[in-house]
Amino acid sequence: MQTDVRPETMKRITTPELAQAFIQEQVEAIRKQVGDGKVLLALSGGVDSSVVAALLIRAIGKNLVCVHVNHGLLRKGEPEQVVKVFRDEMDANLIYVDAVDRFLDKLAGVADPETKRKIIGKEFIDVFADEAKKLTGIKFLAQGTIYPDILESKDGVKAHHNVGGMPEDLKFELVEPVKLLYKDEVRVVGKELGLPDNMVYRQPFPGPGLGVRCVGAITRDRLEALREADAILREEFAAAGLEGKVWQYFTVVPDFKSTGIKDGKRTFEWPVILRAVNSVDATSATIEEIPYALLHKITDRILSEVKGVNRVLYDLSPKPVATIEWE
Ligand code: XMP
Repeated sequence: MQTDVRPETMKRITTPELAQAFIQEQVEAIRKQVGDGKVLLALSGGVDSSVVAALLIRAIGKNLVCVHVNHGLLRKGEPEQVVKVFRDEMDANLIYVDAVDRFLDKLAGVADPETKRKIIGKEFIDVFADEAKKLTGIKFLAQGTIYPDILESKDGVKAHHNVGGMPEDLKFELVEPVKLLYKDEVRVVGKELGLPDNMVYRQPFPGPGLGVRCVGAITRDRLEALREADAILREEFAAAGLEGKVWQYFTVVPDFKSTGIKDGKRTFEWPVILRAVNSVDATSATIEEIPYALLHKITDRILSEVKGVNRVLYDLSPKPVATIEWE
């Protein structure tokens, strides 16, 4: 097992050559640790779990079992991309779990943000544990723990285990190949492993996903409006060359309506709030000064393409006083 302390002599991985050397070293270390054993991984499609998956696929192929839980709170196209990249292109052993109804039924009528987070977290563990129990002979659990997680858990800021709280009867030995790396190094390694740019340079996305952006009690129609508006925002940012340049950008749909007019008739529909912030470590954030022409284009598209929406607003509040997410 690796230690939890990054050696002072360890060079920052900034070049393809250093990434290749790291990949080779980890492939050997993984093979040594797991032998011909099977390894389980919760694959969200985020940078860290994707890089761990790609490393393990290279090291042990089909002895890695990836479980992708679609909880219905992912962005448009994300579950499809996980299947395309890992099952179709990397030939991974991937179990896709459609848990959309399970999550949304549990969340129905729940408006309190922290209760929503708890339900999503607990349900995720339950779904993952259910899948793990169906599989036999798995001794290892891979996790996308990175070095800041270890440092923060030492400081008592947060528990670092991504799949913490697994039931007692499911005991695994951990495989954490990127646990001594910083985020920028994980990205360099991911690029060398052949992962697509929009996976490697992906903006931060909260574990509870769109759940904390569909303010208040989540309904399927409002969640759908949120997902479509978010996809338009991302498309337009990419077209304007802002992808990878702005730290985090997304839409929020609050649980209230306002009056509008469409085709000469009164409407009563939701607003979409746009948010685009820059940050270094998410403890504070400033507002991205989006060009007005781009704001107008995004607004026009949302108003004409997204069902149930009659207003678009831009959130100008930095952190502090606001937080980045609305919940
Ligand atoms: P806030 O809203 O606190 O967010 O300014 C700071 C950063 O953390 C992300 N965030 C979360 N990430 N689970 C996560 O994994 C969460 O519950 C959560 N809440 C916020 C947020 O997207 C931002 O990058």
